[in-house]
Amino acid sequence: MKLLNAAGFLILVPTFMLALDPLSTSIFMGGAAVAWQLLSPHSWLKCSLLECCNMKDTLNLSVLKMDLEQKVFGQHLAVQIVLRALRANVYSKWPKKPLVMSFHGWTGTGKSFVSSIIAENLYQLNIPRRRFVHHFSTVLHFPHASHVHLYKEQLQNWIQGNVSACPRSLFIFSEMDQMPHGLIDSIMPFLGYREEIDGVYYGKAIFLFLNNAGGDKITEIALDHWRRQKRREEIPLKELQSLMSEEIFSNVNSGFFHSQLIQKNLIDYFIPFLPLEYKHVRECVREELRLQGHLEDEDLMTEIALAMTDYPSKERLYSSKGCKSVAPRVTLSI
Ligand SMILES: Nc1ncnc2c1ncn2[C@@H]1O[C@H](COP(=O)(O)OP(=O)(O)O)[C@@H](O)[C@H]1O
Ligand SMILES: [Mg+2]
Repeated sequence: MKLLNAAGFLILVPTFMLALDPLSTSIFMGGAAVAWQLLSPHSWLKCSLLECCNMKDTLNLSVLKMDLEQKVFGQHLAVQIVLRALRANVYSKWPKKPLVMSFHGWTGTGKSFVSSIIAENLYQLNIPRRRFVHHFSTVLHFPHASHVHLYKEQLQNWIQGNVSACPRSLFIFSEMDQMPHGLIDSIMPFLGYREEIDGVYYGKAIFLFLNNAGGDKITEIALDHWRRQKRREEIPLKELQSLMSEEIFSNVNSGFFHSQLIQKNLIDYFIPFLPLEYKHVRECVREELRLQGHLEDEDLMTEIALAMTDYPSKERLYSSKGCKSVAPRVTLSI
């Protein structure tokens, strides 16, 4: 069929050209080339104007690495695992299963921030990002525990429909700790090792779960390390990972209480977000001053960071709100 079309095009175009002057001919040829580019599914022009769903080659890991390392403070473990996990999934031609990462940590430590940096790097333009990144806020989308049956069906349909339209879809579930019990298990079939389900291939989808549950355990371990005069960088990841999966499995308020996703090992990475210290909050204030268009003010940075590091009450080592209320504090102080 394609061959016949091309043959018809080759016969018709020269005949048609003879009837046109050189200017019209160039306009016609230019128009035809643009139309050709826009109509073919993954052409260079279409993908740079509209951005294609087939994002295989567009995630630039070194740009993402730079972005994460420059913008995210105090989360060396999270940054390191996220980069490794994405590299393994994105550069594999046919990943065996979708990438599933669960972010854990206190509020304001950067879980949403990191997920939006990933989204921005996967889909650089706004329009495709809106189409291929799906954000479920538990509080907004699944507020009533009594409607779990309805939510289960809606969630399955939504994921199925969107992954069949674009295999490289990103699903972000925030406030997992408030998710009605049993709901998240409804997406289990999509997260497993299967070639296809009803003709849909899920291996390129990415699922991120954002969870405050596990934060206390992470802080406990970080604090214990600090008390034993060890560096933050020496906190062993393996110990944290297994503790986190145990903790959220047995925690009624984690969204994963007795969840089959954990029992069947379908969550690939449990990613710890460490509590933020004075020096990290200070960096957040510096960044906020820059964003609001002010000059760096060392005194203000010190003042806000000191006021925010409030945990434990004796040592005042960590900020219990992370960097969450930095922006309004800067606004009020300037
Ligand atoms: N580790 C961090 N490094 C840099 N900025 C951060 C960090 N954590 C939080 N922030 C800032 O605080 C804001 C709120 O954090 P957020 O990512 O929403 O926290 P969480 O989702 O963990 O509760 C972010 O938009 C970002 O500006
Ligand atoms: Mg958040």
